[in-house]
Amino acid sequence: MSTWSPSSWRNFPILQQPTYPNQEALKRVEEQLKNYPPLVFAGEARNLKKQLALASEGKAFLLQGGDCAESFSEFKADNIRDTFKLFLQMSAVMTYASGTPVVKIGRMGGQFAKPRSSDEETVNGITLPSYRGDIINGNDFTADARIPDPERMVKAYNQSVATLNLLRAFATGGLADLKQVNEWNLGFASQKEMSNKYEELANGIGDSLRFMEACGVSSKTYRTLRETDFYTAHEALLLPYEEAFTRQDSITGEWYDVSAHMLWIGDRTRQLDGAHIEYMRGIQNPIGVKAGPSMDPDDLIKLIDILNPENEAGRMNVIVRMGADGVAEGMPKLVQAVEREGKKVLWSCDPMHGNTVKTSNGYKTRAVESVLKEMKQFFQVHKAEGTVAGGVHFEMTGKNVTECIGGSFQISEDDLKARYHTHCDPRLNADQSLELAFMIADTLKEAKK
Ligand code: PEP
Ligand code: CO
Repeated sequence: MSTWSPSSWRNFPILQQPTYPNQEALKRVEEQLKNYPPLVFAGEARNLKKQLALASEGKAFLLQGGDCAESFSEFKADNIRDTFKLFLQMSAVMTYASGTPVVKIGRMGGQFAKPRSSDEETVNGITLPSYRGDIINGNDFTADARIPDPERMVKAYNQSVATLNLLRAFATGGLADLKQVNEWNLGFASQKEMSNKYEELANGIGDSLRFMEACGVSSKTYRTLRETDFYTAHEALLLPYEEAFTRQDSITGEWYDVSAHMLWIGDRTRQLDGAHIEYMRGIQNPIGVKAGPSMDPDDLIKLIDILNPENEAGRMNVIVRMGADGVAEGMPKLVQAVEREGKKVLWSCDPMHGNTVKTSNGYKTRAVESVLKEMKQFFQVHKAEGTVAGGVHFEMTGKNVTECIGGSFQISEDDLKARYHTHCDPRLNADQSLELAFMIADTLKEAKK
C-alpha cells in the first residue's frame, strides 16, 4: 500500500465533492483552517475507543444521534440544550432499565456536509446544483445560493467550536448531574404519555439516589454521578476540511482528525479504492462505516483490513442501514463474514436511512413503525448469530418537530407541515426517540437474562 499522508487522498478517485469555482479562495481557507485550534484532543478519541470496545463486547451500549445536517439558521443554544437533554433522558432510560452504561455520541459540532443522490435538483422546470449542506452551499433554491463557497468552512468551524463548548459545559457543569433527572424531561404539554412514563422512571432513579446518598455515595463525592462523557461525530465527507484538521498527536506521534472524536464514512463514499477510504485509514480516531443493502460481505472484510489492519477493538463501528425490509436478508451474511474472519467490530443499527419515503403531499418522512421494525430485526439477527447488538444511530432532535410519522403520539402525513424544520432528512422528535429508548431498554434487559 502506498504511503499515507493527510493529503494522500488527493491521488484517489473521489465522489460527492463540490467544485469550488474559486480555487484560490479555497486554498486560502484551507491554509487558515490548518492553523485553527483542534476541537478535540487525541486522548479523548482514545478514551472513546476504549468505551466503544466495551460496547462491542456488550458491556456498554452506543447511542449516537443528532441532526441529519446541522445548519447555520437553526444554530441556537436551546436546540443544543434540548438535544443534549434528550441524550440524558434516553441514557437514563436505557441504563436504569438494563444496567448497561450508555456511550453518548452526538451528530453535532461538525455534521454539516451531505452526500446527495443527485448532483442536481429540479423544481418547476428549473434545474440547479443540489444543496450539499451549509458547510458547502446554501439551501435556498437560487443559482447564487447553490454556488459552493469555501468561507462556509470557516463559519461551520466556528459554529462547531461554540456548539462543543456548550456541550462540554452541559456535560460537566451540573446539567448532567443525575440529581437533575426530573429536569431533563422535555415534557411537551400535548404529549403526556411519554412524559409520564419517563417521570415514573425518573422517580425510581431519585429513590435509588436517596438510598445511595444515605449510604455515603452521592454526586458530591462521585464524578460519574454528576458529570457525563459526551463525544461528537460527523460524516467525514468534505475532505479538504478534514485534512485541515488532521494533526499529529504530540504524545504518540499518531495522526488524528481533531475535528471530532469519531468520524464515519457514508454509504455512498465507501469505495475500496476511493479517496474517503484512503483518508480514513491513516487517522487513529474510532471510525464508522455505513453498510447499506449493496454492501458485499467480501468487500466489508477488505474494508476492515484496510481500515483496521491491527484488528484493534473499538476502532471499527459498522453502522447497518438496510431498511426495515432489508435487514433480515442483508445483515446475516455480513455478520457471518466478520465472525468467520475474527474481525473485531462494533455493530450498530441506523434504522433511519433505509426507511425514507416521500408522502403524497411531498414531504420526505420516515414511519416510526419502520424504524422500530428495523431495530427489532437488527436485535434478532444478532441473537440468532450469537453476536452483540452494540448500538444505535438515530437522526433525532430534542425539539417537538413533526418530521417522522407515527409513534405513540400519532403524527399523520397531514401533521408534517406543522413543524417540519429539518435541513435534510426527517428526524425523530423527543417523544418518538424516548419511545425507542424504552424499546431498546426492554430488549437489552431481556438479553441480559
Ligand atoms: C447520514 O447519516 O446522514 C447519511 C447520509 O447516511 P448514509 O451514508 O447511510 O446514507
Ligand atoms: Co440523513
